[in-house]
Amino acid sequence: MREISLALPGRDRSYQILIDPGLRLRLPGLLDALRLSGRVFLVTDTRVGELYGEQTVAVLKDSGYTPALLTVPRGERAKTWGVAQRLAKELLARGADRSSPLIAPRGGAVGDLTGFAASIFMRGLPFIQIPTTLLAMVDAAIGGKTAINLPEGKNLLGTFHQPRLVAIDPQFLQTLPASQRRNGMAEVIKHGFIRDPDLLGRLEKGRDRIFKDEAELTAIIHRAAAIKAEVVAADEREGGLRRILNFGHTLGHGLEQASKFRLPHGEAVAWGMLAALGLSVKLAGLSPEEAAYGKQLIRNFGLARRLPALDPLAVLAALALDKKRLADRVVFVLLKRLGEPVIRDDVPRSLIEQAVSETFGLSY
Ligand SMILES: NC(=O)c1ccc[n+]([C@@H]2O[C@H](COP(=O)([O-])OP(=O)(O)OC[C@H]3O[C@@H](n4cnc5c(N)ncnc54)[C@H](O)[C@@H]3O)[C@@H](O)[C@H]2O)c1
Repeated sequence: MREISLALPGRDRSYQILIDPGLRLRLPGLLDALRLSGRVFLVTDTRVGELYGEQTVAVLKDSGYTPALLTVPRGERAKTWGVAQRLAKELLARGADRSSPLIAPRGGAVGDLTGFAASIFMRGLPFIQIPTTLLAMVDAAIGGKTAINLPEGKNLLGTFHQPRLVAIDPQFLQTLPASQRRNGMAEVIKHGFIRDPDLLGRLEKGRDRIFKDEAELTAIIHRAAAIKAEVVAADEREGGLRRILNFGHTLGHGLEQASKFRLPHGEAVAWGMLAALGLSVKLAGLSPEEAAYGKQLIRNFGLARRLPALDPLAVLAALALDKKRLADRVVFVLLKRLGEPVIRDDVPRSLIEQAVSETFGLSY
């Protein structure tokens, strides 16, 4: 079993991230170790519930737990005020109290919703993350950010609520559709760009070999999750270092918003990373060879191949709504070298416009 310790200041706030194929079948032992017992609430989406709900409930019951399985819609449709309220009412109706653990076997979307509910229900419940998508394993499940969306934008209501445990079972990825694997891979590549050129080297093997080799996949998830944990431990509330995790996200969010969220997050980030690599050459000293290597790696994973026709002005307008903006300036993460990010808020508007037209091929 691979383990990462995420150390945070304060009582009961540090936690373990465990990674092991088959870990989902050992959930009761993990709960015992946290001294959680009795009634536990599993929150999942319709698809993950269909695939793994019955098995998870059975594993828990066999060990004397009394699990209740609560199902919410898939994807962004789960991250609404209405669903959060319904979930809270259902928890109440089923007798949840302040000691009831919420356990979320699911992707990033339901993880954000469940974390949000766990943070506000009776002022806070213990929360256990069981990510089932690659994106959630290496990113969303780690770091305690929770969120729901508003019609005006994504993730506008949220809290910081750290989980008690993150249990990662790479075997969940066997049923994950290829498009979702690509999505997660964009974040794995991002972690390599901002922190670890060796991880990029491992990724050169290509997606087919990586997903067929359980040990290699586990090692890659471990490294990518460790990078996220390391950054969160240094900067829990995104005051400084944590902003490097937004590499590719500034223009990526612009694309997501302009596409009205039809463009998947990983795809949007992949395009955003292509643009950020180009800007890094122009402004931060990244060599053209390193940028070309990075762009090739992204494309080798089947990412950033074709972009739907979008209004470039809508992409630019969306940057002004990005809540990560500092005062009037748009914040970009660029690279000095692979693995060495730098935060810049002085990227000239003309270069941003150029990136939108040249990298994304969107004409004004
Ligand atoms: N909190 C954070 O720090 C953070 C970080 C990054 C992203 N996010 C959020 O994460 C969300 C995206 O998460 P995601 O990419 O995991 O998508 P998702 O949660 O929407 O899941 C994608 C789809 O895959 C299905 N699925 C999940 N696991 C499966 C499995 N093992 N087998 C088959 N199907 C499976 C789901 O039912 C869903 O239809 C976004 O809402 C984003 O804002 C949060």
